[in-house]
Formats: sequence, C-alpha cells, structure tokens
Amino acid sequence: MGIEDASMRNGRALSDQWADSVVVRPRTTEQHITVNKRLVLGFAISILTLIIVTAIAITLSVSFERCAAESSGALAANGSSNSKWKQSRDANISHRDSEDGQQPWRHLRLPATLRPRHYDLRLSVSMENFTFSGEVHIEFECVQSTKLIVLHTDRLEVDKVLVYSDSKKAGAMRIQRRFHYQPKQVFVIALHREMKPLRTYKINITFHAHIEHELLGFFRSSYVLNGERRFLAVTQFSPTHARKAFPCFDEPIYKATFRVSLKHESSYQSLSNMPVEASTSDEDGWVTNHFSRTPRMSTYYLAWAVCNFTYREAVTDSGVVIRLYARPDAIQSGSGDYALHITKRVFTFIAFKLNYILPNLLAVPKHPYAAMENWGLSVFVEQKILLDPDVSSFSYQMELTMVVVHEICHQWFGDLVTPVWWEDVWLKEGFAHYFEYIGADFLFPKWNMEKQRFLTDVLHEVMLLDGLASSHPISQEVFEATDIDRVFDWIAYKKGAALIRMLANVMGQPLFQRGLNDYLMTHMYGNAARDDLWNKFSEAMQREGKDINITQVMDRWTLQMGYPVVTISKNDSLDNSVTISQEHFVYDTDAKIQNPELFNKSFQWQIPLTLAVGNSSHISTETIIWVSNKTETHRVGHMGSETWLLGNINQTGYFRVNYDLHNWRLLIQQLMTNPTIISVGNRAGLIDDVFNLARAGYLPQNVPLQMISYLSQETEFLPWHAASRALYQLDKLLDRTEDHSLFSDYVLRQVEPKYHKLGWPATSPEGSFMQAAYQTEELQREVMMLACSFGNKHCHRQAVSLISDWISSNKNRIPPNVRDIVYCTGVSLMDEDVWEFIWMKFHSSTAISEKKVLLEALTCSDNIFLLNRSGVTEFLNTEAELNELKEFILTSGGESAPAFARAVEIVQANVKWHVLFQQQFYRWLRKAPDG
Ligand SMILES: *[C@@H]1O[C@H](CO)[C@@H](O)[C@H](O)[C@H]1NC(C)=O
Ligand SMILES: *[C@@H]1O[C@H](CO)[C@@H](O)[C@H](O)[C@H]1NC(C)=O
Ligand SMILES: *[C@@H]1O[C@H](CO)[C@@H](O)[C@H](O)[C@H]1NC(C)=O
Ligand SMILES: *[C@@H]1O[C@H](CO)[C@@H](O)[C@H](O)[C@H]1NC(C)=O
Ligand SMILES: *[C@@H]1O[C@H](CO)[C@@H](O)[C@H](O)[C@H]1NC(C)=O
Ligand SMILES: *[C@@H]1O[C@H](CO)[C@@H](O)[C@H](O)[C@H]1NC(C)=O
Ligand SMILES: [Zn+2]
Repeated sequence: MGIEDASMRNGRALSDQWADSVVVRPRTTEQHITVNKRLVLGFAISILTLIIVTAIAITLSVSFERCAAESSGALAANGSSNSKWKQSRDANISHRDSEDGQQPWRHLRLPATLRPRHYDLRLSVSMENFTFSGEVHIEFECVQSTKLIVLHTDRLEVDKVLVYSDSKKAGAMRIQRRFHYQPKQVFVIALHREMKPLRTYKINITFHAHIEHELLGFFRSSYVLNGERRFLAVTQFSPTHARKAFPCFDEPIYKATFRVSLKHESSYQSLSNMPVEASTSDEDGWVTNHFSRTPRMSTYYLAWAVCNFTYREAVTDSGVVIRLYARPDAIQSGSGDYALHITKRVFTFIAFKLNYILPNLLAVPKHPYAAMENWGLSVFVEQKILLDPDVSSFSYQMELTMVVVHEICHQWFGDLVTPVWWEDVWLKEGFAHYFEYIGADFLFPKWNMEKQRFLTDVLHEVMLLDGLASSHPISQEVFEATDIDRVFDWIAYKKGAALIRMLANVMGQPLFQRGLNDYLMTHMYGNAARDDLWNKFSEAMQREGKDINITQVMDRWTLQMGYPVVTISKNDSLDNSVTISQEHFVYDTDAKIQNPELFNKSFQWQIPLTLAVGNSSHISTETIIWVSNKTETHRVGHMGSETWLLGNINQTGYFRVNYDLHNWRLLIQQLMTNPTIISVGNRAGLIDDVFNLARAGYLPQNVPLQMISYLSQETEFLPWHAASRALYQLDKLLDRTEDHSLFSDYVLRQVEPKYHKLGWPATSPEGSFMQAAYQTEELQREVMMLACSFGNKHCHRQAVSLISDWISSNKNRIPPNVRDIVYCTGVSLMDEDVWEFIWMKFHSSTAISEKKVLLEALTCSDNIFLLNRSGVTEFLNTEAELNELKEFILTSGGESAPAFARAVEIVQANVKWHVLFQQQFYRWLRKAPDG
C-alpha cells in the first residue's frame, strides 16, 4: 500500500489534516491572530480533525471490546496441519479459558478450525441506487472438529445460508443457529452436527448491501466529465474491509482462489483482478462479466470496479499486455502515458526470476491511500499516477515514479508472498519502499536514488521519528483490530526499507539477491514471517562459507525500538586503537526516563560498523567491525595526528556516528579543503548526524554551524539537501526567539555565494522535463529555496516579479520546477490579491500536479514560509505552549493516542533545548566569522 507522503510527515495523517484545515480557512481572519495563537489554533484544528478521523476509523474498522481479557487470546489450534498458520496464531494466544474456547467469535482472530480453498462470488451491482446483492459459494476444509463456522461480515445483510458436506452427496446440513456478532465483525453459523477434519464442506450465502460513499470496502465516488457528474464504484479491502463486500475469512493467512462475476447496467464496464473470461448480456440492458479464476491469494488483495473508463495499453518485451484505466478525458490527453511507460519498463526489470504478473492499473479520483497493490488491479489516486509533462515539476514526477514502482514491487512482496499477520506488515512495505529506489535507479540512473536520495528521504527522515522515546519497534504486536491500521506507519515503511538496505550492504548484492529469490520461491502463493526471510538469508550466507546468524542480528533491530549512536574515539596510546561504544540515541533522555517501560531496558544492537581512516589526500578502504558490546576496543590502520576516522561508510547503516571533538575538527577541515575525498553520501550523512547530535546534546552547538560553512565548496545536491532539511528544522526550533536574525543571517552568508553563482532557471525551459539535468536543477532549486526562505532580497524580488508578470499577462511563464517556491514566496510577501489569484487558479486548473502545488501555496504565510512542509509541533518551543498543548490534549481526551505522546515529547525536547543550549548557540553566532 502506498501512503501519502505528506500525511506521513509527522506520523500518520497529522500534518495532512492540518494542511487541509488551513486551506479552507479564509485568509482575512488570519491577520488578526498573532503568530503564536495561529500555531496553537492550527495545531488544535489538526488535533480535532485527528480525533474525528480516529473516531471514524475506530467505528469503521473492526470494532473491539476494551475489556482487556476479551481482547487477548484465541482458540488454540491443536490439530493445525499448517505450522506457519499455527505459529502466527500462537503469537496471539496469551491466555485461554474454557469459556472463551466455546465462544471463538469473541476473539480478535478467527478460530483456526476451518480453511477456505475457493470462493465463487457473484455480485449484482446497481449504479442507479448504489446497492449490490451477491451470492458467495465457499469451499473449505475442516482442520479440527467443530460445529461452528465463524467468518467475517460487516455491514452486510445476510439473507440465505446453506451448508453442505462434500462427502455425502445429498442434502444440506441442519443449521441450529446463526447470528452476527458485530463487536468482532463476524457471522457465526452453528450446525447440529460436527464437521470432521480433512473433509471439505461448502457454504452458500446470499447477501445485500449499500455501495457506501466512503473510502472503504466497496465504495462509490464521482467525477465530472463534460460538465456532467459521473459515478464509479471501486474496492479498497486492505487491511480489513473485504468483509464489507462479501462474507469471507478476512485474514491474510486464509489464502484461497477466487472466481468473481459482476452483473451491472450495460452502460458501465467492470474490472477485476483477472481478465474477463466470458460476458453475457440480458435483454433488460444488464451485462454479466465472468472473470477468470485468480491464483491463491489473500482476501485483502481482491478488487473490482464498476466504472465508465477508457484505457491505453502497452506490451512488455515478454508479450504481457499492461492496461491503464482512467477517466476518458485523462486517457485522451495522454496523462496516463508516463505511468504506463515506466510500468512496462520496470516490470521486466524486477521480475525476480518469477515472471508471474497480473498487470493492470486503475486511476481513480478518490482513494484513501496513494495507491493499493491489488493483485492485477493496482488502484491509484489520480495525483499519484497521472502526469501532464508540460506543467509537472520534477519532484512530482519523482514521487509518481516511486509510487508506481512501489506498487509493482508489491506484486512479489505482498501479493505473491504475504506476511503471515499484520505485525510484520513492514516485511512487504519495507521491501516495496526499498525497491522503489532500486527500480527508480534502473529507470533513471542519474537520479542516484539508492545511493543518495534514499539517505535524506528515508534514512534521515525516519531517524528523526525513531529517535523519540515514544517510538515503537518495527514489528508491532497487534492485539486489537484497531492496531491494524496503526501498523501502516513511517516506521514500517521507512525503517523497514533502511534495515533492508543495511542488510543488503552487509551481505553484498549477489547473496542478498539469492536469499530473496529463495524466499520468494519457497513461499510463493503462501505466507511468510520475518524468520522465514532471515533463515533464507542465513542459508545464502552459509553456502558461501559465511557463518552469520541473520536472525540473531536482525531481531535486535526489529524487536527493539530506536537505534544506536556509535561513538568512536581515538585512544592516546600508540597502538592505533580506538574505543567504540554504543548507546540508544534519544533526543531527550528525560523522556526515556519518564517512560518506565524503557527506563530499565539496556538497549544494545549488533552493529555492522564500517570504518575508514583518512587524511587530506587519501582515504583507506574501509573495514567492517561488528560492534555488539557496550564498549569495545579495536585496532585500525595507521593513524597520525592529522588522520581522521570516518564511520558508517556511505551511510548504509541505520545508526548515527559520533567522534571525539578533535576528529570532528579534522573532518570539518577536510570538508573545507577538499570535500570530495569523502563520498557524497557520507557528506550528507555527516551533516545530518552533526545537527542531530547537537540537537540532542551530544555535541556543542557550534559544531554543526561550523560544518555548514563548507557548503560554498559543495557542488552536489545531496549534502545541500541534507543541510537544508536540518536548517529548516533548526529554524522552526528558533522561531520567535529574540536573536533569530543572527541565525538567518548566518545561514544566508553560507548560501548566498552559491545562490548568486547558480541563479534562477531560465523562464522558458527548453525541452521537456524528461531531459532535465537532474543534479543541476535540483541543486539550483534547493539553494533558491534556502535563499528565499531565509530572506534573501534578490530571491524575493525575483519571485514577486514573476508572479506580477503572471497576473498581468495571465500567462504562467514560471518554470514548473520552481513554481512551489515562487507561489509560496508570492503568497507570503504580496497582498491579498495574490492569494485570491492563486485560489482562482487552483479552481480553474485542470492539471492534477499544478492543482497540488497551488493548493500548497495557499497554506503559506508571511512568517512561516515552510509551514506546510511539516508538523506544527516543531514550532512550539516554550513552556507555556507546552502546557497549552498538554491541556488541550487532556481536555480533548486523547492522551493515549500515539500522535499525542509524540507531539508532547517533541515540544518537551524543544523546551529543554532552549533551556540548555539556546544561549550557547547564539553566543557562538555573535562571534562567528563573516562569510
Ligand atoms: C436497486 O436496484 C436494483 C436493480 O434495479 C433492484 O433490484 C433493487 O431492488 C434496488 N434496491 C433498492 C433498495 O431500491
Ligand atoms: C451454491 O452456489 C453454487 C455456485 O454459486 C451453485 O452452483 C450451487 O448450486 C449452490 N448450491 C445450492 C445448494 O444452492
Ligand atoms: C459512459 O460513457 C459513454 C461515452 O462517453 C456515455 O455515452 C454513457 O452515457 C456513459 N455511461 C454512464 C453510465 O455514465
Ligand atoms: C539463529 O539464532 C536463533 C535465535 O538465537 C536460533 O533460534 C536459530 O536456531 C539460529 N539459527 C541458526 C541457523 O543457527
Ligand atoms: C564483548 O563482551 C564479551 C563478553 O563480555 C567478550 O567475551 C568479548 O570479547 C567482547 N567483544 C569485544 C570485541 O570486545
Ligand atoms: C561509496 O560511494 C561511492 C560513490 O558515492 C562509491 O564510489 C564507493 O565505492 C562506495 N563505497 C562502498 C564501500 O560502497
Ligand atoms: Zn505499500
């Protein structure tokens, strides 16, 4: 599944909600509110929205009983013939009692007594009155004697139920009682006679329901074509919503085959996972499409749609036809061509030797996620798949590319091999996210995604979150149904990808590939847990004579939250030895102490540390050191007094590295004189580490400031990008402090030489974006953004004149790649009319990508240029604001939500930083050398 990037910025959906709520606010009322109030207000709105959203999510997703005794435990699976199946369930059995055993419908998990094999699903869909009725016929096997059939239904009206046994030809089995148990969204059928192990049975259920107007289950939405409203209905079953469309065993482990047929008005067409096998028409204007039988798969990957779309298609080298379906006008204008083109190319690249593909794509106007990897019918929200080359910025293209590659990767990681249970959702999401970067590198090698962009966009981003005491392990136990939605978060996606990348680098690409292939081959059409993956990796290593237990290593990283900071310091002795120590990195150690669960845990990891020694002209080849103790001593190559140490080569590891101050000084010296001795990835890594170490109090505040003075020498995009991210964060922390201008002036002094050198992109760009020189344009954009944000007058004048030109000529000559910067600067600096103008353009624009940029610009404001780029909490930094926030959370009754814990911890850490370090920070700036 692809989660909207913006919504993930501050954990789940926080800032996104915030952005939504700001946009609808009329700008005029804003002026009367002080900055401070506005921030608190904005935060309040975001929290309120969050509460409402959460409340809705809770009522909509599987509801659960709050009673602790109820939520744990499930019927034991004694006779289970499938060990994985049992293993997944055992994890959830914390206690049993006999009464619970007799009422398995009260548990979170289905009883493991029956196993479905095949579903025949016939649906009749009315787009006139938005209802559907259906009949499902399920063949299942009995695993353990039982009189009960428990399967999921939600919001379905069940009409008829028939159960019959395969062995005895005649007659249905007598039903004693049948009922719906809403708290667990299950339907229970109690039979008179027991079903016996190893026998197969069949059940026929007829049902009907509404096609709801919300983004779950089988839902409807609409769009406007030639001035007329058109409707479509589509499904979203992940994680637990297939049960809203048909009665089923709605857990990932219950894989089965499916044969779907859809009947609907003939003015519509229908799509599902598989191609249409046969189609029949009624005389009354209805058609029925019979789709082929699917491979063995989980219920949440089933999908269908009833719509009036058109398509374009492409054929891969191996002859597979890929179709992209969308609104007729989008298809006609060619907006889908780019996605189709990259899909075709990337499919052949990541076939993993398993050339099994079911490749259709569907673009819908509304969808709860960026995209969903239904097998053979991936569904995308339009903004993540449609692209108009003339007006799309580079970042829009990149994001779209990543989402498309992500969903394609899921065809193997997810669809073909499915995690056993939701606690390991990172197994599919981490892989899909990691391979986004590998796949994009294949498509556009110049983007350097895996070696470079991954660092800032994944690693640095998630280390911010995972450095909080309110973080959580990547493998999260799922005790209650509401936990299922929670596991799809940044930790699962980004930390998952970062750990996989670390492992791939430790193992080396060839062995990593081999292990993965084995894993996929062994578990295809089935389910797998993390240990299955680790075992395949260990085996691949052992075959090469490398005896390393991957399970042991990786359990530390997946079952513990957070990550270590490794401190390397040179020993004074002459034996070229260094002391290496590790500790749990947290921004605010008080927050850890306040959390009793964490206080006594001694966090320790097995860290694959790569280490190199260098001097002004040379860097050694690195060696790998496994660090597993709290403190260790190691010998390294020859070191003189001017030799520096560099850890975590190319930032392949998921940890931070700290050094003694002398070593930091040498590294900074090196960057000043000849940065290229240190790789681009490490330069970005040093910047991110140094800012975050200082933020958490591991280093004096002047060290990061000194480091960025090398930036005028920096010609590559990535280190600039890392620096600007760190500087914006610092800017938010320092927001409204008295001496703020000391800081912004210092930043401008570092940025301006580069800004004047690179200038602005030409106002009429030549050639299409596909040929754009990525490095140059991105660097130029990054430097411009810094200059405009920190108040460079030239940058402001330039933006204002471009906007004025647009308003007076009504021709938009602003290069797509910098439109967001220009719009936002214009909205911040110019009068109300500009806001109104952008607002008007937002409504009249038809290009999806342009609409997005315009919308974002509307949330910009004078004081806080980059407000819409991240959460509001980072702006709150005084004791008073902290108390306001706490009070707000208290009165809104949301203390237990993870987002609140995180918000409070961030603000607390901000307050503490000001108490401890603000003075030191400004004291250095006051004396800082010019330039
Ligand atoms: C909706 O339309 C279908 C087909 O026309 C019909 O069978 C069904 O009874 C209608 N349902 C309602 C609730 O009107
Ligand atoms: C159950 O459904 C299947 C498929 O829809 C059908 O072939 C079969 O006749 C039905 N059985 C009964 C007893 O209705
Ligand atoms: C489907 O599209 C066709 C062609 O644009 C149009 O004639 C027809 O009315 C549409 N049907 C519906 C139900 O919108
Ligand atoms: C690896 O370590 C785990 C946990 O310590 C253990 O259960 C497993 O048997 C080991 N695997 C191998 C191949 O030694
Ligand atoms: C780590 O600690 C163990 C036990 O305390 C010790 O045997 C081992 O030598 C240490 N390893 C290193 C590299 O210092
Ligand atoms: C680190 O990255 C550079 C390119 O940025 C590459 O040349 C070098 O081989 C990489 N080092 C390792 C150990 O992968
Ligand atoms: Zn995904």
